[in-house]
Amino acid sequence: MPEVVLPGGNTTGAVLIDGVVHKRAAPWTASVHAVLRHLEAAGFDAAPRALGFDDQGREMLTYLPGETFAGRDSPPGWASADAMLAQVGRWLRRVHDLTAGFTPPPDEHWFIGGTMGPGLIIGHQDASPYNAVVDGDRLIGFCDWDVAGPSTPDWDLAFSALTWVPLASPHDGGPVSEQDRRERSRRLHLLLDAYGYAGDRRVLGAVVPQRAQRQAAVIRRMAGAGDPASIALLPIAALLERSAADVRTLPDAFWSP
Ligand SMILES: Nc1ncnc2c1ncn2[C@@H]1O[C@H](COP(=O)(O)OP(=O)(O)O)[C@@H](O)[C@H]1O
Ligand SMILES: [Mg+2]
Repeated sequence: MPEVVLPGGNTTGAVLIDGVVHKRAAPWTASVHAVLRHLEAAGFDAAPRALGFDDQGREMLTYLPGETFAGRDSPPGWASADAMLAQVGRWLRRVHDLTAGFTPPPDEHWFIGGTMGPGLIIGHQDASPYNAVVDGDRLIGFCDWDVAGPSTPDWDLAFSALTWVPLASPHDGGPVSEQDRRERSRRLHLLLDAYGYAGDRRVLGAVVPQRAQRQAAVIRRMAGAGDPASIALLPIAALLERSAADVRTLPDAFWSP
């Protein structure tokens, strides 16, 4: 059966074989599959289903039919559409609600470390436009659950806010105009309203830079250990550090609905 390389990934070389996604597995893959099975059992169909492992030890997942960010010269319109952002907020809320009561396997193991505990949910942790699968203006779901793991809801929301609103600084290093800043605040609240965020939004505002810095630190640590994909991501680490600093300068009013 031919293997078709799936474009768009940074790290794992996902391939499609006879309609099934095969990806290199990691020590945490069994725990991630337990999450995907938990979501499946709850009737949640906006994530791949875990199909076990192939004879080369690769994980197998159902393919979410739709289009992705892959292979584009410029961002697709849906990446900045309000209606998509609202769907992302609702998607995150469903995942958080459904995983609040998740009992991990006894040997739980996560890319990000840590263990499940009271008050935590399983965050996707990388629910960015790069891992979204869409059909026209409809969000089908998110693939790439490799870095999923226990976190607070804010920690997971912070990453999606960075990448979708976006709260991340512009790639070209330029400033965010006053008008763009207002637009970012409006879209942040759109995301949080769709999520049904009931907390103090300034608290989330303090989590966002921490989340960006942690992501940068993980990339730098893995790059330092010689991981080629992380070395390629070093410019993103720098962007995340700049974003953390820029988000810290946002006024209180930015976080007020
Ligand atoms: N279950 C899936 N359904 C649909 N597309 C997928 C699925 N898994 C991966 N892909 C496609 O393959 C690309 C790379 O896979 P991904 O899991 O994101 O790998 P990486 O860890 O390298 O980012 C994704 O960006 C997406 O386009
Ligand atoms: Mg990916």
